[in-house]
Amino acid sequence: MLIRSATFQISAPDLASCPDSDLPEFAFIGRSNVGKSSLLNMLAGKKELARVSPTPGHTQLINFFLIDNTWFLVDLPGYGYAKTAKTERDRFQDMIANYLEGRGNIACTFVLIDSRHTPQQIDLDFVQWLTHCPSPFALVFTKIDTVKPAVVKKNIALFQERMAEMCSDLPPIFTTSSETRFGRHELLDYIEKLIG
Ligand code: GTP
Ligand code: MG
Repeated sequence: MLIRSATFQISAPDLASCPDSDLPEFAFIGRSNVGKSSLLNMLAGKKELARVSPTPGHTQLINFFLIDNTWFLVDLPGYGYAKTAKTERDRFQDMIANYLEGRGNIACTFVLIDSRHTPQQIDLDFVQWLTHCPSPFALVFTKIDTVKPAVVKKNIALFQERMAEMCSDLPPIFTTSSETRFGRHELLDYIEKLIG
């Protein structure tokens, strides 16, 4: 799929403030700093569309980016950043949960997982919670440029093993690098298929 235009649309602080639109949406969620905003920019082919930061907890609102006037990429705040004040953390969690449970036009939620690490409980817990949400989801192992392929492979296999304990259908799995743009075509093809 070729992307012709990608523009920032709106930052929403809650579900009620999301755009009044039924265009298909593709949401990016995962631990703080896992590379959500970077991946969104890599897919859109625009370096500075969503704000990227080396410090975790950067994205704080639900950010909508309109692609080719026909679908949205949605950048969500990360979970699990310990230094955020508890009240803020609760607000983020409510915002993310309300959006993922209540937004009817999510075509797919991409859960980003850092390929450098063995399965983290916080990601497993999140995925388990997500299985009860209405929209389908897929896993995206990020930052594969930073470790050896064998490590990525092992960490994915371990994650799949843990997931098999909690659900019968394993979701699609992608591997990406926002540095080398690895995985871009596969993800865009998948999005194109879901848009129909
Ligand atoms: P929050 O909004 O804070 O939750 O973070 P995020 O998940 O949006 O992560 P972000 O895209 O801001 O990236 C965090 C850091 O990881 C930045 O320093 C990025 O440059 C770096 N990063 C993201 N993706 C990759 C990747 O594929 N490879 C490498 N080497 N670094 C990456
Ligand atoms: Mg971000």
